[in-house]
Amino acid sequence: MLQEIDHVAIAVYDLDAAVSFYEISLGARVVHREDVSSDGVREVLLRAGSSYVQLLSPLSDNSPVARFLASRGEGLHHVGYRVASCAEALESMRRAGARLIDEAPRPGSRGTTIAFVHPTGAFGTLIELVEEGASSEHSGPGLG
Ligand code: CO
Repeated sequence: MLQEIDHVAIAVYDLDAAVSFYEISLGARVVHREDVSSDGVREVLLRAGSSYVQLLSPLSDNSPVARFLASRGEGLHHVGYRVASCAEALESMRRAGARLIDEAPRPGSRGTTIAFVHPTGAFGTLIELVEEGASSEHSGPGLG
């Protein structure tokens, strides 16, 4: 079911500064930028092999990421696991007793289908299940 790490998401105050840091310090390359208004975040994806580093900053003061930054400060926000089927993985996690944030798969950034699982009941890590390229209603630009 689990294919690989899709992305590691890091919440930051200054997105441009964080992007520059990753570019300069690790030679990371930006491959995607997107405002995900439904989640209240602006994201930048930098390629790391077949995975991504996802830098996140809030689009508004009341977005969940803004609340995260206010209470926890900058740092690891969630881990995105790439799965063949978001629906099947979500059902498997539900059966395993995980506390679901999304009861059903929904569109994510860059045309993915995603669902979030609460860190409580998942050993302290906010988990995102990511299925590539399955969302037709929310297809973002390709990664090229
Ligand atoms: Co994510």
